[in-house]
Amino acid sequence: MNDQAPRLLLLTRERPGLRSALQALLPGVTSAFLGETDPTSRPAVEAALLGSIGRDAVGWEPSAFPRLRFVQRLFAGVDDLPFDRIPAGVQIAGNVGGYSPFVAEHAVALALSSARYVREGHAAVAEGRARPAPDLRSLHGETAVILGYGSIGAALADRLRPFGAGIVGVNRRGTAAAGCDVMFSADRLREAVGAGRFLFDARPLTVRTRGSIGASELRAMAEDTTFVNVGRGATVDEEALYRHLVDHPRFRAALDVWWDEDLAHGRIESRFPFASLPNFLGSPHWAGFSPHVEEYALGTALENLARFFRGEPPRHVVDRTEYVGRGAGRP
Ligand SMILES: NC(=O)c1ccc[n+]([C@@H]2O[C@H](COP(=O)([O-])OP(=O)(O)OC[C@H]3O[C@@H](n4cnc5c(N)ncnc54)[C@H](OP(=O)(O)O)[C@@H]3O)[C@@H](O)[C@H]2O)c1
Repeated sequence: MNDQAPRLLLLTRERPGLRSALQALLPGVTSAFLGETDPTSRPAVEAALLGSIGRDAVGWEPSAFPRLRFVQRLFAGVDDLPFDRIPAGVQIAGNVGGYSPFVAEHAVALALSSARYVREGHAAVAEGRARPAPDLRSLHGETAVILGYGSIGAALADRLRPFGAGIVGVNRRGTAAAGCDVMFSADRLREAVGAGRFLFDARPLTVRTRGSIGASELRAMAEDTTFVNVGRGATVDEEALYRHLVDHPRFRAALDVWWDEDLAHGRIESRFPFASLPNFLGSPHWAGFSPHVEEYALGTALENLARFFRGEPPRHVVDRTEYVGRGAGRP
């Protein structure tokens, strides 16, 4: 094999800092973009750095890379991956932690903007009207429930606690974690959602979380809950949430993530007119954006690739059965 042949396939756009980060974190590891590979060099590829499927991986056929063993996502979520086309022996890792400080900060911004009626306050100022004030809410003295107490969840807890909020978390098995007063397991979701009036969803979209917040979970929440979703839109039943907002005017929802997203083409859609509801606030999947995020997220992704190329087990390898159902995705 030609020693200049790429061991790392770059399924990402040429981004600022990419070359210098590769040199610093993966010294000596040869790399190439998809268009720079050919049938003679493809057998050298052992790992891939994967960005947007719709923008950066068009034409990528995993089986054309016979020695591919590891796919590191540049994004945190892996729910949109073509699992059926990635051979079963290839490990896949999300960029866990790559966006956490930024997403957590945005989740706090959504929660406070909604709970403190920031948009309505601005409208009142524009009209010169000071009273009556709406039912302004505070994190102080409240309990914040964090569904998906992983990297983003823990970063969120770090930011919420100084406001004077207690923290309840939910992870898969209910395993205790730093910064969390009480942890529920996933199968106690309905109990957990009623444990506090601020509720944050930061879970991945898996076969188990998809649609897991439906009408009965919404009914189990306090009527004056402020619900923030920065994980994935489809963990929540879209119609159930819309109806609940219409029927419960004191329930407030603030979402960054959507049911129908085509981020490669800059588009989001929903089947219901959420944005016309007074108790709703949205942002268009912007939570992860920051001037520092490119460098930060690239750093965490390349560190995991560095583990792989050193011969160490990469971190955050996903269980495929959580994404495609038990047995699926196998040859
Ligand atoms: N809005 C945005 O721009 C944006 C940006 C980045 C990420 N995200 C989303 O946020 C997700 C989390 O990212 P992260 O970096 O925090 O990942 P992470 O560290 O892996 O955290 C995920 C957490 O969710 C928990 N979880 C998984 N399945 C669950 C279930 N069925 N019920 C309850 N909890 C469950 C995991 O439990 P265990 O601890 O037991 O494994 C873990 O604690 C990503 O997958 C992505 O979808 C959104």
